[in-house]
Amino acid sequence: MIPVFSARHVEAAVSPERAVEAVHEAFVAYARGEWSMPPKVYVPAYPAGDFRAMPALGAGHALLKWVTSFPGNPARGLPTVTGLVLLSDASDGSLRAALDAGAVTALRTGAAAVLAAETLGRQDAETAAVIGAGVNGRAAAKTFLARGRSVMLWDVDEQRARAVADELGAYLASSREEALAADLLVTVTPGHEILLPEGSLHPGQHVSLMGADGPGKAEIAVAELARTRVFCDDWEQASHNGELVHAVEAGAIARADATELGTVLAGLTPGRESPDDITSFDSTGLAIQDLAIALAAMERANELDLPTLDL
Ligand SMILES: NC(=O)c1ccc[n+]([C@@H]2O[C@H](COP(=O)([O-])OP(=O)(O)OC[C@H]3O[C@@H](n4cnc5c(N)ncnc54)[C@H](O)[C@@H]3O)[C@@H](O)[C@H]2O)c1
Repeated sequence: MIPVFSARHVEAAVSPERAVEAVHEAFVAYARGEWSMPPKVYVPAYPAGDFRAMPALGAGHALLKWVTSFPGNPARGLPTVTGLVLLSDASDGSLRAALDAGAVTALRTGAAAVLAAETLGRQDAETAAVIGAGVNGRAAAKTFLARGRSVMLWDVDEQRARAVADELGAYLASSREEALAADLLVTVTPGHEILLPEGSLHPGQHVSLMGADGPGKAEIAVAELARTRVFCDDWEQASHNGELVHAVEAGAIARADATELGTVLAGLTPGRESPDDITSFDSTGLAIQDLAIALAAMERANELDLPTLDL
């Protein structure tokens, strides 16, 4: 009997605070070589969207996330990101749980965005903003709030931004410019429009670039990314499918110019070095983050009345 965590069960099992802690530990374990992660496989179904198969191994477990990105879905009342996470025991291969991929993704994406902002942003950062108030932007805003920080929201769809702000207790930015100027900025848009042209970020600012996680997407201009101290979740993945791909192709950024967040969290490399540094974090989303959330959910499995799957 395999326990099944619906989105509601994932949210009940793992708080945003626990998600930050779990994702932090996963980044460190991966940086130390204790967890492993074969490359994410993209299965294109364009122009509608794409499927991704994301495996990881760590803490005695193996995980596969089968997940989508179908950007046109919200217009049809369907989620952009949907699918299933399978967690297995790595000692005998037995299936241990199935979890809703959208909920796991939102928790770990919000956690990574805020963890990067807290790690790389200025100690005295005052303002935080999330641009893009969809499923994963909402999760980032919720995580900022859970960490005790007020957050402003901005979205091209003002109604959506207002609804999320009201629901969470965040506030609406008065303009896109106000949001873009926040000390800790998180962008979670579909990546069809450059939000950050050359010269737009100010000294001391941090931006977590979460939206551009696949081919053809970008939220920052190459020249602007090159002005920042660049951090990423995983060089291999980000330089092939994230913001970094455009900069690498243009010859503006090479491997030596980008630092993986996990190595900073593990104390192996420095993060921000000066209050005036502009830091960026290019996130493409890692299966090790999903594994962290799935394991955290399993810690609470006995407390929840979970449906089961009898295979
Ligand atoms: N890095 C990661 O780990 C990760 C994880 C999940 C999703 N993503 C990516 O993040 C993006 C958003 O995903 P989602 O599930 O939240 O999608 P969503 O459709 O739920 O939300 C996207 C939001 O962005 C808004 N938006 C669109 N263009 C905008 C613009 N120019 N300025 C401001 N707001 C704008 C939309 O109105 C919408 O509210 C996608 O590209 C997705 O693939 C990345």
